[in-house]
Amino acid sequence: MFKFLNICVVVVVFTSTVVALASANCCFPDQWTANLVETTGEYNRDLDAASLAYGNRQFYFDYTGKQIAYLESLDNRTAHVKTQTKTIIKYNEGKKYTIISQKCKTEDISSTMESPCIPDDATLFGAHSYPAGVMAEVWFVPDKVNGGSKRISVTKDDCLPLSESRITGGPDYVMRMSLYQNVTKGITDPTAFNIPASCNQLLATDDVLHFRNSADRY
Ligand SMILES: *[C@@H]1O[C@H](CO)[C@@H](O)[C@H](O)[C@H]1NC(C)=O
Ligand SMILES: *[C@@H]1O[C@H](CO)[C@@H](O)[C@H](O)[C@H]1NC(C)=O
Repeated sequence: MFKFLNICVVVVVFTSTVVALASANCCFPDQWTANLVETTGEYNRDLDAASLAYGNRQFYFDYTGKQIAYLESLDNRTAHVKTQTKTIIKYNEGKKYTIISQKCKTEDISSTMESPCIPDDATLFGAHSYPAGVMAEVWFVPDKVNGGSKRISVTKDDCLPLSESRITGGPDYVMRMSLYQNVTKGITDPTAFNIPASCNQLLATDDVLHFRNSADRY
């Protein structure tokens, strides 16, 4: 827990010493596909409870169609639960679909889709290079509404994502590190946005219970 808090302090101190620059002028493509390797740590200060999970997401981002889809394999090392979840978010329809073991949960959402551009209030943390001559820029983006922040590495030439670390505001702090693999412009599998038939049926109470318990415990 101390390590986790230390990281927060370092981020805060580091930010205040960097001078803000003008507009980032960096946008991810309107449509991209990537495979994300993720580590997620959570600390809830009110409950004094911490957890750790390892995940992988096949991610489809479609700003043109205002939709996101991802297939996530999550290994929650604290709960000892492995899950396979498909999530489809349709911003234009205000719907989020979560599918676990063929069971679909539909929720209403009111949020708008996050822009693919690095926002104007981002701060440049500098540049660095990867092997094979890839140059990267690191941007720090504060979340002024909910607290927390994210740090994003992008390729300098064409603003493609390389990595992201994000921490939410408290008291439930969620810190997620994502490595972007095989980043591809466009949507490699448009069927990822197809809503399964099971999402259009009303779930009986039994099904909802089954949905909650369908995680594969080990
Ligand atoms: C892992 O499980 C814990 C305990 O149930 C939970 O609080 C936490 O949110 C889970 N982590 C993720 C990333 O789902
Ligand atoms: C990434 O691309 C390589 C080369 O096409 C492929 O072999 C590999 O399976 C891909 N990895 C993932 C996680 O999609």
